[in-house]
Amino acid sequence: MAKAVPKGDYDGIRAEVRKVMKQPDYDDGSAGPVLVRLAWHASGTFSLVEHNGGSNGAGLRHGKEAADPANAGLYHAIEFLMPIQQANPWITHADLWTLAGVEAIKAMGGPDVPWQPGRMDYNDESHAEEHRGNISDRLPDGALGASHLRDVFGRMGYSDQEIVALSGAHTLGRCHADRSGFDGPWVVNPTRFSNQYFKLLSTRKWVPRKWDGPLQFENIMAGERLMMLPTDMALMEDPVFKEWVLKYAKDQNLFFKDFANAFGKLIELGVDRDDSGFAHLVRQAAKEGKPLDEVSKENGGSGGRVTVRSAGGGCPFMAAASASKRDSKL
Ligand code: HEM
Repeated sequence: MAKAVPKGDYDGIRAEVRKVMKQPDYDDGSAGPVLVRLAWHASGTFSLVEHNGGSNGAGLRHGKEAADPANAGLYHAIEFLMPIQQANPWITHADLWTLAGVEAIKAMGGPDVPWQPGRMDYNDESHAEEHRGNISDRLPDGALGASHLRDVFGRMGYSDQEIVALSGAHTLGRCHADRSGFDGPWVVNPTRFSNQYFKLLSTRKWVPRKWDGPLQFENIMAGERLMMLPTDMALMEDPVFKEWVLKYAKDQNLFFKDFANAFGKLIELGVDRDDSGFAHLVRQAAKEGKPLDEVSKENGGSGGRVTVRSAGGGCPFMAAASASKRDSKL
C-alpha cells in the first residue's frame, strides 16, 4: 500500500516511486526500466508540426493508445504506479508517469533530469482522441534504420546528437518476445544507468541472431546473450550518429549531461501548463512566425525552468513548425 503524502510533496512521491521500483518477481528485480519506457512512450507521440500528442493527458490509459502494439507491456508500469496515484489522487497520472521516469533514472544511478508538474489527464478515450495524433506513425520501429529514426525524432524536434543520447536509455531493461517480439537485454547489468550501451555497441562484434524471431543482433558476454535492435545498429552505421556513439562511449559525464537535457525536453513535449509549456510555445512561435528558440527565451525557457529549446540545425520540421499558422487543438 502506497503512502499518502501532502499535496504538492513531490519528494514524497519520489520516495514512493523508489519503493515500487523494488519488484523481486519482475524481470531483473526492478520496475525501473519499464517506468522509464512509460515516460518515454507517453511523451514520444508529440508532433511539432501537427501540434498534438506528448506527455499531457496520460492518454495511454485509454482505447487506441493502450492497444497500440508499440505500447505492449506498458500496463505493467501503469499498474506499478497505480497504488501511488490512488493514495495521492491530487497528482495526475501524466505528472506521476513522467516523475516516476526521472526518479527511476536517478535511482538506477543516472543523472538528475529536470521535471516540473502541471500536466493534466484526459478523462476518457474521446478526450484523449481529440488531443492525440496519428498513433500508428509516432513511435519508432526497432526493425528499421537511420532515416526512420530521423523521421520519428525529427518530428518531435530532436537533432542527431539528441537521438543518440536518448537511445542510450537502452542501457536499461530488456526486450520481451511477448511484447515487441525482440528478446533480451542490451547490457549485462540492465538496472544500472551508465554509458555501457555505447561501449558495447561500439566495441563488440554484433551478429544476426539465428532464431525464428525478428532480425536482431547478438553478442555473448559473460555467458549472457546480449542484443541490439536494427535501430541500435543504425547508430554505428550512420557516420553522424556514430560520432556521437563514440563520444558517449568515451565520456560518461557528457552522456549523462546530454541525456538529462534530451529526456527533460522529452517529458515537456505537448505540455500546456501555462505560458512556458512547450505546446504553448510551439503555437506562439507559429503565430508570430518566430523561431521556437526565440519565443522560448522570452518566456524564460532557460534560466531555472526546464529548457525547451528545439533541436534547431538539421531538423526538417522546424521551418514548417515556424511557418505554420495552424491553431493547435491542445
Ligand atoms: C531510438 C528508437 C527506439 C526504438 C526503436 C526502441 C525500441 C524498443 C524496443 C523494441 C524495446 C523492447 C520492448 C519490450 O519488448 O518490452 C525497448 C525497450 C526499452 N526502451 Fe526503447 N526504443 C527506442 C528509443 C528509446 C528511448 C528514446 C528511450 C528512453 C529515453 C527508450 C527506453 C527504453 C527502455 C528503458 C526499455 C526497456 C523496457 C523494459 O525493460 O521493460 N527507448 N525499446
